[in-house]
Amino acid sequence: MLTATMATKLNEQINREFFSAYLYLALSTEAEESNLRGTASWFLAKHGEEMVHAMKMVRYLLDQGASVKLGAIAAPPAPAGAILAMFERTLEHERAVTTAINELVDHALSEKDHATNIFLHWFVTEQIEEEATVNDILGRLRLFGDKGEGLLMIDNELGAAAKVMAQTLAQASAVTAA
Ligand code: FEO
Repeated sequence: MLTATMATKLNEQINREFFSAYLYLALSTEAEESNLRGTASWFLAKHGEEMVHAMKMVRYLLDQGASVKLGAIAAPPAPAGAILAMFERTLEHERAVTTAINELVDHALSEKDHATNIFLHWFVTEQIEEEATVNDILGRLRLFGDKGEGLLMIDNELGAAAKVMAQTLAQASAVTAA
């Protein structure tokens, strides 16, 4: 049983997760338009991951007998303009999501809502991994360059990583749907 406040906060997070999906879909299309196919696949896989995050929260609210309230999803910002800016935007966004998840945990603890606290642990761990991955990509872009052969190599790496993410995602989607 969730309090009304906890349910409202989780519904707000569902909106953030859908916005994240929307943001990464926008970055995927921008990358594709720039002929960065691997980067486009990577952001499309990120889009899929964020949809899974949103659906995990939808499932949790339903399992707890709480109402799911879907609000309007804000439009993504204007194109980032360059691959480095795409990943800087991604890191900035994920840091904001981490802050939001931490605030949710703080609230669950303040209510002694152990179920929600435990449920949110998965998201806390996921944020650590996501920030680390994007930091790593930014580091490689700065080291090897965001143009020419360095960019081609990183775009290929991102394409390979996207395939792995898509496989993991297919398994996660099957579990979420169950
Ligand atoms: Fe669902 Fe990347 O936070």
